[in-house]
Amino acid sequence: MDRSGSFVKVLLSMLLLACASTLAAKDSAIEMLPANNNVGDTASLQRGARNFMNYCSGCHSAKYVRFNRMGRDLGLTEDQLIENLMFNAETPHDTIQRTMRDDDATRWFGNPPPDLSVVPRSRGINYVFNFLQSFYVDPDSPTGVDNILLHGTSMPNILWELQGYQKAIFVEHAVEGGGGTELVFERFEPISEGSMSADEFQSFVRDTVNFLDYMSEPVQLRRRAIGIWVLMFLGVFLILAVMLKKQIWKDIS
Ligand code: HEC
Repeated sequence: MDRSGSFVKVLLSMLLLACASTLAAKDSAIEMLPANNNVGDTASLQRGARNFMNYCSGCHSAKYVRFNRMGRDLGLTEDQLIENLMFNAETPHDTIQRTMRDDDATRWFGNPPPDLSVVPRSRGINYVFNFLQSFYVDPDSPTGVDNILLHGTSMPNILWELQGYQKAIFVEHAVEGGGGTELVFERFEPISEGSMSADEFQSFVRDTVNFLDYMSEPVQLRRRAIGIWVLMFLGVFLILAVMLKKQIWKDIS
């Protein structure tokens, strides 16, 4: 086959692959709730940092974030940092390390818990927001729970005390085009109550992912602030330019 023929072939197979992957994604996708978090909300970031250090940092590190940088960005004094957040660090220059040793993490979980300063960028913040709310009771799993968004996950449902336990309801659907049926997730149903109401729990998760969003790109806070100054500068510049234009064209028109 000549060159252009094989080029068309490659192009076609790429197109097919893209179609197939969107179809496959649709198949397993559940309706994702938007996180609607706001990294400009400092109080939410502070609550998120507290949640992260209390509930996640035992297993997950955030190696690209230093405590002193975080303190500055979140408006915390060094004393507040040391007292409330630095459970597993010696100095404010340290990065966030998990308490668990690496070999223990692999032995206990098989898949070691990933570093959380990068996960939100690869998975998306909405994914993490939904992931934390999608654990359901599964007696066949070694942790007693599974997750709709990550089947067979080795992460336990560490927020169960706050959320309570829920079960997942699946319904049988006929497989399109072929014979047989498949189970498709429909909804969650609470089994036991947690210490928080559904709304409180969702705010808790929103604050937590807000902090993860900040950690995945700390510079975004500064970028936003700079962006506002740039817009203000452009606004003033526009007014000056219009006045200047009027002045110059005054005698001509
Ligand atoms: C007891 C240990 C433990 C704690 C505590 C924990 N995790 Fe995990 N987490 C894991 C393990 C293990 C994995 C790897 C799961 C897998 O790949 O199946 C994981 C994976 C994840 C993932 C990646 C999911 C994916 O799709 O790849 C996210 C996001 C996450 N955890 C968020 C959190 C947050 C946020 C907290 C705190 C609220 C937290 N975890 C607390 C053990 C833990």
